[in-house]
Amino acid sequence: MSAATAFPSVANIAPQSFDIRPFSGAVGAEIIGLDLARPVNDLDFSRIHRAHLDHHVVVFRDQRITPEQQIAFSRRFGVLQIHVLKQFLLAGHPEILIVSNIIENGQSIGLGDAGKFWHSDLSYKELPSLGSMLHAQELPAEGGDTLFADLHKAWDSLPHVLRKALEGRSAAHSYTARYSETKFEGNWRPTLTPEQLAQVNEVVHPIVRTHPENGRKALFVSEGFTTRIVGLPEDESQQLLAELYAHSVLPENIYRHPWQPHDLVFWDNRSLIHLAAGCPSHLRRKLYRTTIQGDAPY
Ligand code: SIN
Repeated sequence: MSAATAFPSVANIAPQSFDIRPFSGAVGAEIIGLDLARPVNDLDFSRIHRAHLDHHVVVFRDQRITPEQQIAFSRRFGVLQIHVLKQFLLAGHPEILIVSNIIENGQSIGLGDAGKFWHSDLSYKELPSLGSMLHAQELPAEGGDTLFADLHKAWDSLPHVLRKALEGRSAAHSYTARYSETKFEGNWRPTLTPEQLAQVNEVVHPIVRTHPENGRKALFVSEGFTTRIVGLPEDESQQLLAELYAHSVLPENIYRHPWQPHDLVFWDNRSLIHLAAGCPSHLRRKLYRTTIQGDAPY
């Protein structure tokens, strides 16, 4: 189901006055003046949808919304995906994954190192994510940025010969590939149960995908979840993937998001990969993530 067909219509709602201001760099725009605690009518919604497709990541400033409101707004774009790490789902709201480095009573309250490697959310599923929304709850005084890299530009700027060689090829994606690798000090990951492991079997996706809504091609590999190129010897596969990863994150194709209080950031996982920069472990960071299911990549 594409976002264009997923939206439930909201009729007879007053319009809101808001601006969409593109950032000066590669991707991204901020949306000022919109209040997601109020209903959003169809016309306003279609402006937001267009901005998301055009800019790939939109930052809704100053959103004083509840988890229920985040879930309701996310649902307008499609079905929500429940993360495999049940330990870190918000009580009473399994649609929300808690992303946090906070430890209470010796236990992590959330996934502390979500985004430790560049990745596209849930690319390890048959139906990877359309997009994700991350709502700031508590932010550190230092660090904690999130980076986004444009995979349409990455594809478009690959040498022609390499594009030709990659067309029609597939790569394997696995949640467990780098699951246990530590990156941010003090964070831990629970051992996956057999039931959890059964939900994250390896999948295979095309290396270049076509965005179902904007029609553009995008590279679809990432250091976080891609493990190998199907049909290539292991050393050749690893070498080529390393080249593609390096090419994906050229500085000119990156937007770095310094979080502001109450930001809600909504990115397109079909166009971007993202990375959490991390923050000093003694500083508290907590965000709520909803993840919207997308189409099977083609
Ligand atoms: C994520 O990858 O979903 C989390 C990104 C972040 O914590 O900045």
